Amino acid sequence: MVIVHVSAECYPMAKAGGLGDVVGALPKYQAKLGDDAMVVMPMYQTPFLQQNKWELHFKGNTNLGDWFFDYTIIKESTGKLGFNLYLVDIHGLLDRPKIYGYPDDTDRFIGFQVAVVNWLSHWKSLPDIVHCHDHQAGLIPFMMKYCFDYQKLQFVKTIVSIHNAQYQGAMGWEKSLLIPRWDTWKNGLLEWNNSINSLATAVKCADKVTTVSHSYMQQLKFQSNGLEALFEYEQGKCVGILNGIDTEVWNPATDPMVAYHYTATNVLVEKKKNKNALCAKYNLDPSKPLIVFIGRLVGEKAADVLPGAIQHAMDKTDSGANFFIIGAGDTATESALNYLVQLYPGNYNTFIGYDEKVGHEAYASADFLLMPSRVEPCGLNQLYALRYGTIPMVRDTGGLHDTVVDMGDPDGFGIKFLHATEEDIVYSIERAIAVYQDKNQMNKMIQFAMNIDHSWESVVEEYKKVYESIL
Ligand code: GLC
Repeated sequence: MVIVHVSAECYPMAKAGGLGDVVGALPKYQAKLGDDAMVVMPMYQTPFLQQNKWELHFKGNTNLGDWFFDYTIIKESTGKLGFNLYLVDIHGLLDRPKIYGYPDDTDRFIGFQVAVVNWLSHWKSLPDIVHCHDHQAGLIPFMMKYCFDYQKLQFVKTIVSIHNAQYQGAMGWEKSLLIPRWDTWKNGLLEWNNSINSLATAVKCADKVTTVSHSYMQQLKFQSNGLEALFEYEQGKCVGILNGIDTEVWNPATDPMVAYHYTATNVLVEKKKNKNALCAKYNLDPSKPLIVFIGRLVGEKAADVLPGAIQHAMDKTDSGANFFIIGAGDTATESALNYLVQLYPGNYNTFIGYDEKVGHEAYASADFLLMPSRVEPCGLNQLYALRYGTIPMVRDTGGLHDTVVDMGDPDGFGIKFLHATEEDIVYSIERAIAVYQDKNQMNKMIQFAMNIDHSWESVVEEYKKVYESIL
């Protein structure tokens, strides 16, 4: 089966969040099972671009409204990723250092999608599945079905996977000029709330819609930033498939970013060595439970509640735990979190920014990972944590609901709480401190956690069933 993934992110070429991890892993495991899975994404100016070898694959030209442009498709030439990675180079539009955050992002991603569809229309033998991820690829199913120039693609099956419905790629109707000419009887498919909404269009036009956990699929019907009615209406073609994790990249026994390697057998001894090293480096106290937060410092992740919650917990428990925060985002949250460094020297620190290595070291060192997310479609961090024997403390929502069992249950291996509030977080921190003292219970949970299988192999089968259902 020939599967083309279209995405704005793909690790290790460019990653801003979990989307990049998933798109960097799913095709690799599909390819291992014998399918011809590949990824096409924008050619940003990232270190990975400069450090790797590329071959020219295709040259084409098309237009974005009245701007006629040439585009080039290049391909990673060694095959070392385990799947073919194609980049779309549109000079001046996509070739910039960052993935998102430019004033013309709308035009950039429409340009990307137009070039992808144009390229596909030149294929001698068409792919079986075009698998679009999030709103940056959300107009593709529409373009393939209804744009006059791309009628050749109208019967190619399309899937859209929603990694986060908070972001929808909505734009004013004036941007419709950038979409290649289409059958205007189909205007309603672009329309949502007097705007063009890329995600809504994707849900309407794709042959199947998936999202990254079962609970989030249900949640979208009552909490999806304005698309609730659409998910209710289209539920027949929607399915939740829990993400996997790349167990080759995330393996405490071999992780090159981690100093002391371990498995479930020697986790206690070796993880402690990592913890000692991390604590020494960031001025923390290794004798206390170490709770880390790793993620974007934004409202969705409830990062704004952290400073208050940590301060209360520290005061209430007489600094009974240590905290290490890794992430970047809202500047007010960043400074509130940084402010705590001087209040709790030796027990609290931050790393503002994101660094893959610091992240890996933190999973390999921490006792607990805190995720109070307001919205969490799947969440990968709790899955990485489990694999590294780090106990997740999570708000009971979306994918966190589906993947963590509270320690109140006989087979529990985590801490769950209901609300993204200071009170609930403080209470979960108190529970963490208490269970940390109970070595038996703690070890039991660590063993349980490390033995859970969230590898991609089984997930890939589920995607395959979805593909087969529409072919
Ligand atoms: C987004 C979601 C996250 C999910 C990831 C990969 O980043 O916020 O919950 O795990 O996509 O699907």
